[in-house]
Amino acid sequence: MRKLLKFPKNFLWGCATSAYQTEGGIKNSDWAKFKDAGIACDHYHRYEEDFDLLKKLNQNAYRFSIEWSRIEPKEGEFDKKEIQHYKKVISALKKRKIVPFIVLYHFSLPLWFQQKGGWICSDSPKYFARYTRKITQELKGVEFWMTINEPMVYVVNSYLKGKWPPFKKNFLATQKVTANLIEAHKAAFQIIHSIQKKAKVGVSKNIVCFLPYKNKALNKFLAYLADYFWNDYFLDHIKDYQDFVGLNYYFYNQIKFRLKKKISLKSFPIEFYNCDEKKEVSDIGWRIHPEGIYWAIKDVSEFEKPIYITENGLADARDRLRKSFIRDHLYWVHKAIKEGEDVRGYFHWSLIDNFEWEKGFGPRFGLVEVDYNTLARKPRPSAFYYAKVSKENALITNS
Ligand code: GAL
Repeated sequence: MRKLLKFPKNFLWGCATSAYQTEGGIKNSDWAKFKDAGIACDHYHRYEEDFDLLKKLNQNAYRFSIEWSRIEPKEGEFDKKEIQHYKKVISALKKRKIVPFIVLYHFSLPLWFQQKGGWICSDSPKYFARYTRKITQELKGVEFWMTINEPMVYVVNSYLKGKWPPFKKNFLATQKVTANLIEAHKAAFQIIHSIQKKAKVGVSKNIVCFLPYKNKALNKFLAYLADYFWNDYFLDHIKDYQDFVGLNYYFYNQIKFRLKKKISLKSFPIEFYNCDEKKEVSDIGWRIHPEGIYWAIKDVSEFEKPIYITENGLADARDRLRKSFIRDHLYWVHKAIKEGEDVRGYFHWSLIDNFEWEKGFGPRFGLVEVDYNTLARKPRPSAFYYAKVSKENALITNS
C-alpha cells in the first residue's frame, strides 16, 4: 500500500557542501599544501548558478562553510574582499529564500595556524575565537551557525591515523586536541551569541551506528566504548553550549574485538575491527544501513534540543542507489519524528560532486554531477526525486 509520510510544517530541505571541497582557488590552507584541490567545482565563481539549481530542486536551506584561510590568510590580518565574497553568497541565498547554515571550520585550516602548532597548541581556541568574532561582526542576520564540522573525524584522521594534516599518530595528542576543540566551540558559542542575539549555534557531529558482532559480551562492551567516545563524548562536553544538534550520518560499523599486533603507549591497543557484512555498499565501500539514522537521532535526543540532519549521502557515480538511499533514510527520520523526536531539517551531502579529501575527485557524492573538464552541472535522476520530496514536504512509500 502506498503511504504518504508528511514532514512537519516549516521542515528545512537542503543540501550541504564545504568550501575547500567545492570553491577552488584556495592556496593558504594546510590542505592546499597536502592535496591541492585546484579549481575544484569553481563554486567560488559559480555560486549563483548553483543556488539557481538549489531553487530548481525546491530546496529551502543550504549548508556551506566559510574558508578560514581566505578570511585570515595571515595571522590577525583579515581580507576584506573575501569577507565581501561571503556577504554576497549570503545575499544570493536570501534573495532566493534559501536559509543559510554556516559552518566556521570544516577541516581546512590556515597555514599560519598549523605553523603555530594547530589544534594541539594551547592558544588555538583563542585564534579561533578571534576569527569567529570577526566573522560574526561582519556577516549579520544569519540565524544558523555551526562552529566545527565533525570534530572527532578530524581528531582521528589528523592525530590518530595520521591520514590528514598534520599527519600525527599519537593517542595522547588526540586528548589535547579534543579538549582544545571543545574549548574553541564554547568560546565561539558565547561570542556568536553576544554579537547576534537571534543566532542559533551548534556543531555538525558525525554519528556512527555501532553494532556488536554476534552480540558477544566483549564486542558489546567495545561497541559501547566506541559509541561513548565517538558519538557522545564531544556532545556531552558542550551540552550547555548548543542550541541545536547537527547530526551527520553515513553508515554503521559492526564491531569485533581484536588486539593490535604492535602495542605502544602512543597508540590505542585495541582495534575496532569492522567485520564484513552482506550489506549494500556505496562506491567507496561504506555500508548502507538506513535504520542507523533513527538510532542516531534517538542517541542525540538525550540533549533535548532541536535536531538537524546536517549531512547524509553516499558516493554513487552511476546513481544506482541514491534514490532508495534518500527514501529509506527519510523513512527512518520520519519514524523518529512520529515518535516525538524534534527533527527540523535534512541536508543531503552533497549538492554537487566535489573533492572528497584524501580520496580526491573520484567519489561522486553529488545530487548534481560535475563534469570536471567543463565544470558543467547536470542533475542526476535522484536529484529530481529529492526535489519532489522537498516540494511535497512528504515521502511516498510502499508499506
Ligand atoms: C563528511 C564530511 C564531508 C564529506 C562527507 C562525505 O564526513 O564532513 O566533508 O567529505 O563526509 O565523505
